[in-house]
Amino acid sequence: MRLSVIGCGYLGAVHAAAMASIGHEVVGIDVDQAKVEALASGRAPFFEPGLQEILTEGISAGRLRFTTDMADAKGAAVHFVGVGTPQQKGGYAADLTYVNAAVDALLPHLSPGDLVAGKSTVPVGTAADLAPRVSATGATLVWNPEFLREGFAVQDTVDPDRLVAGVPHGPEGERAAEILREVYHPSVGKGTPFIVTDYATAELVKVAANAFLATKISFINAMAEIAEVTGADVTQLADAIGHDARIGRRFLGAGIGFGGGCLPKDIRAFSARAEELGRGESVAFLREVDEINLRRRDHAVTLTIQALGGSVFEKNVTVLGAAFKPHSDDIRDSPALDVAVRLHGLGAHVTVTDPEAITNAKNIHPQLTYIHDRDEALTGADAVIVVTEWDQYRRELDPTHAKTLTRGTIIIDGRNCLDATAWRNAGWTYHGMGRP
Ligand code: UGA
Repeated sequence: MRLSVIGCGYLGAVHAAAMASIGHEVVGIDVDQAKVEALASGRAPFFEPGLQEILTEGISAGRLRFTTDMADAKGAAVHFVGVGTPQQKGGYAADLTYVNAAVDALLPHLSPGDLVAGKSTVPVGTAADLAPRVSATGATLVWNPEFLREGFAVQDTVDPDRLVAGVPHGPEGERAAEILREVYHPSVGKGTPFIVTDYATAELVKVAANAFLATKISFINAMAEIAEVTGADVTQLADAIGHDARIGRRFLGAGIGFGGGCLPKDIRAFSARAEELGRGESVAFLREVDEINLRRRDHAVTLTIQALGGSVFEKNVTVLGAAFKPHSDDIRDSPALDVAVRLHGLGAHVTVTDPEAITNAKNIHPQLTYIHDRDEALTGADAVIVVTEWDQYRRELDPTHAKTLTRGTIIIDGRNCLDATAWRNAGWTYHGMGRP
């Protein structure tokens, strides 16, 4: 099928390349000239495992191209809209400027029978607002939310755990769902659940999923707070409750909390939208979820201060990690960088290292010292804090070797990802999050 993908960020670029990898003919469109040039020349503009390969493969097979010219969308049967919906400046609501601009720019190039498939995470009610503008061209709007995780984006797009299609009522909607089934034929063919619903449900599925995940993380972090005053171990607690299949162990990783371009802004946008709908109280708990989450960053800073004897002033602190999570170079609302910046603000000499995110981090926080080589970054540290659980720190950093590089022996495990016993046995003073 011929497809267009409007917006070539973390979502759109992966979607375009993944759709080409399953045999479609795809044009990716973005207003950012530099991004388009990088993609068109086969270079992934951000780090995402597997993207580079499918990008090169799609371009050389002639199935994938990128442009800034929206007119190139003409002729595609389905137009995916995957532009950003960031948090509004000075408010909690989502900023829909890019979604509106993308749809408006696309309208003149639509033909009757085309499908416009919204993938961006939007406040419930957005699709209903956009639909009349799309319908006026003879095209149909569907809402097809994306559930990909950064770091696993290619895999999640090619082989999602479910597909959701919010469609209009009646035959138009049935036809639209049929077209989307055809787009995702490899997944649909192997039995991936394909849920056809209305616009509002489709939009809500996405925000509800992210709200649930954020709540799960903040729940375990709340337990970590209780563990901290009782001497309990939150990781054992998570293991024990996680054995209950109704609860499950995933997303019960206590630590410095969630960040990134999705969970934080999505729960805030959900709260804002619920307020607008007169149902603020229904998701009032999301404010708590947000607050618990942010308190964990404070706690990591406090723990570092305490471990260093009451002050970090002029102490060398090596921060292992800058990305909001491993396998990504994304630093949007990164708890890791936030902790680093706060320690710097308190007068510590902060050295940050990360396998992929240094360039992005340096652009936003040039005041920090960045060293690419892990061992060089560790050299002379009074304290070390792990804030992104890359394998390079979690599995591959030998505590005995690390001790030969640093000045002090304080290790703070902001992600509860290290083997506490191994670090203690090597002579380190280990501090976990919510662990004795
Ligand atoms: C999240 C959702 O998981 C995806 O399903 C969704 O499609 C995506 O947002 C989106 O809306 O686009 P992502 O932001 O890539 O995906 O990252 P997650 O894997 O959800 O992690 C989010 C944050 O939670 C990270 O900072 C991670 O370190 C943290 N986290 C995760 C924890 O603190 N503890 C855990 O147990 C798990």
